[in-house]
Amino acid sequence: MMSQLLQSAREFEEREEKRIRQEDRPAFHLSPRIGWMNDPNGFSYYGGKYHLFYQYHPFEKRHGLMYWGHAVSDDLLHWDYLPAAMAPDEDYDRGGCFSGSAVELPDGRHLLMYTGVQVVTDENGKQRLLQTPQCLAVGDGVDYEKYENNPVLTACDLPEDASRYDFRDPKIWRKADGTYRSVVGNRPGDGSGQILLFASPDGFHWSFKKVLVRNKNRFGKMWECPDFFELDGKGVLLVSPQDMFPKEYEYHNGSGTLCLIGTYDPTTDDFTEENDQTVDYGLDFYAPQTALLPDGRRVMIAWMQSWESCDRHRGDLDWFGQMTLPRELSVRNGRLCQKPVRELETLRHGRTEYRNVVFSGEMSLDGIRGRKVDMELEIAPADGETMYRKFAVRFARNEIYRTSVSFRPESSVLKVDRKYSGSRRMIVHQRRCHVNNDSGKLRLRILLDWYSAEVFVNDGEQVLTTVFYTERSADGISFFADGTVKMNVVKYELG
Ligand code: FRU
Repeated sequence: MMSQLLQSAREFEEREEKRIRQEDRPAFHLSPRIGWMNDPNGFSYYGGKYHLFYQYHPFEKRHGLMYWGHAVSDDLLHWDYLPAAMAPDEDYDRGGCFSGSAVELPDGRHLLMYTGVQVVTDENGKQRLLQTPQCLAVGDGVDYEKYENNPVLTACDLPEDASRYDFRDPKIWRKADGTYRSVVGNRPGDGSGQILLFASPDGFHWSFKKVLVRNKNRFGKMWECPDFFELDGKGVLLVSPQDMFPKEYEYHNGSGTLCLIGTYDPTTDDFTEENDQTVDYGLDFYAPQTALLPDGRRVMIAWMQSWESCDRHRGDLDWFGQMTLPRELSVRNGRLCQKPVRELETLRHGRTEYRNVVFSGEMSLDGIRGRKVDMELEIAPADGETMYRKFAVRFARNEIYRTSVSFRPESSVLKVDRKYSGSRRMIVHQRRCHVNNDSGKLRLRILLDWYSAEVFVNDGEQVLTTVFYTERSADGISFFADGTVKMNVVKYELG
């Protein structure tokens, strides 16, 4: 039986979503049906469709009591909303249904695993969110029923020294041998983060297996939203640490995303770290989650937002929060590389191409404009060697507004800057990263939707993502060179 709470959320979203015109949403990035969205949850292929759930507070445009919103897609680009999947309607999750994941059971049912939150008074009389219960719900792709024996993990399942208040975001997967694993973020006694690994023979009975990785205060504090998978012969851990210190050009976002790549032994579940890196070097990217698609691709999607700037958004839209484009992952030379899902190519039309454009100063090119754009740029010094000082591409542009991506070959630093995007707030507007630079040659692929830019550098070695809420009429694109640059550009309209 559906709870009153879920029933009324479903009625509310169906009624209220009508207030949002389709043209006030991003064209091919998922936004919440109504109200607030954060982390992607339960990203999976099930019943012939891609399913994406999300942290959802339908009633206001701010984080609140969390529900799970739900959308499905045939192509990872166009999403149809389904009714909200879960409400905080049980004693063990009355304080919210926090993040989690999904897997298909061998009998064809869809299994969700998530964190139940309870508001409790602690030993010092302080109100806190207890995040111990890890819970399950089982469904058919539309309706989900919480498991009668919830919670499936409680304080008794935690190793010594593990916090009961910070224990959240289970990511479940089924191993080749038919058993299940789940990684969950946790805070040990040293105040930082750790990833706990749990095992289950059937998806319903869980026990603690081991600490998969200890942060030991190296990368921020608490580790949220872990994901762990094998890719190109490596073990890959994605995690979103809170409170990170910047390190050179890595980890500039405070709360950001970390990737650890190493060796993984599936027989013992041992993971040995080798490399660490930022997952996205832009301003808005958090809590990524991946799914393994039937064709073998490992695809990642993230909340396209940062926690720090989320109360600084435009007041006139009735939704807040977007997902990134889904990205295909690979490991190349020990680094995580990302490419927009190839389905995006089906949205391309109106090709405009220029080759060997040699220019200095600012210029624009006929046919190169728009806010729903897929654009590939190849930059090089004009004569092959005399180094230019700076290259920039400026978009979502008119006399007042612009957002830019610029590159200085001397320092090999690439920068995104949304200072002039229409923001009236003192939020962070710029982010720099260090990129590979072969004698001033650089490749960029820039994806623009109405309210975002995702910049893929050198075939996805690095990505920088930023949202902006520039007036939609600002659709100019221009190029700038200090020195002389030779450029190839191919641009498509999207959608
Ligand atoms: C990450 C996060 C998760 C939590 C969820 C709550 O953005 O804090 O750790 O489950 O958001 O909405």
